[in-house]
Amino acid sequence: MKKALKYALLGLLALLVVAQLFRIDKTNPPADPAQDMMTLLSPPAAVSTILKDACYDCHSNLTKYPWYTNVAPVSWWIKDHIDEGRGHLNYSEWGTYSPKKAAHKMEECVEMTEEGEMPMDSYTWAHPEARLTAEQRSTLVDWFKATHTQLVAIRDAAAPEAAPEAAPANEEGNENHEGEDKN
Ligand code: HEC
Repeated sequence: MKKALKYALLGLLALLVVAQLFRIDKTNPPADPAQDMMTLLSPPAAVSTILKDACYDCHSNLTKYPWYTNVAPVSWWIKDHIDEGRGHLNYSEWGTYSPKKAAHKMEECVEMTEEGEMPMDSYTWAHPEARLTAEQRSTLVDWFKATHTQLVAIRDAAAPEAAPEAAPANEEGNENHEGEDKN
């Protein structure tokens, strides 16, 4: 019995050692400051500090990787969060978002922060600086809300009511002649 336990533990140890060979890719995708939300929407310093401390590791291309991101399997799990976080919302690529998408993402920011869903609990556990006080949370939410209002105005100015009758939108679509595919 004792022998079995010993072998099981040795097996687990061997697995952990082998797991270390599978390192995560920590190369951040290029981050163009000109496309960053901070540049484009210039939040007040109090807000940008919170964003940097609590959100940018997963929602930007400026991720910082602490030492434990070298340790598998924790590293795989963290990498997953970063990839998924960026996929949903990437502040480094804010400038590439359409007015409609920007307004929608900002609405999500209000909701996720107000409801306490973000930053993720597993993150604040290891990042005390990302644990938002009630005051920090409302500072962030207030800014998200005010910005959302502005972005909705910009969206609506860009596409007035997106009226279905707005026929001219078809012109471009017609350029895609079916015949062209036959060549
Ligand atoms: C540890 C990584 C991590 C941190 C830190 C983090 N997020 Fe997220 N975020 C995610 C992941 C993963 C998702 C997608 C899964 C989900 O919705 O839970 C997500 C989803 C979101 C979404 C939904 C976007 C959409 O359109 O679906 C918003 C908005 C968001 N996060 C905002 C924030 C804000 C604001 C902060 C900082 C206060 C923050 N997040 C901090 C990982 C993170």
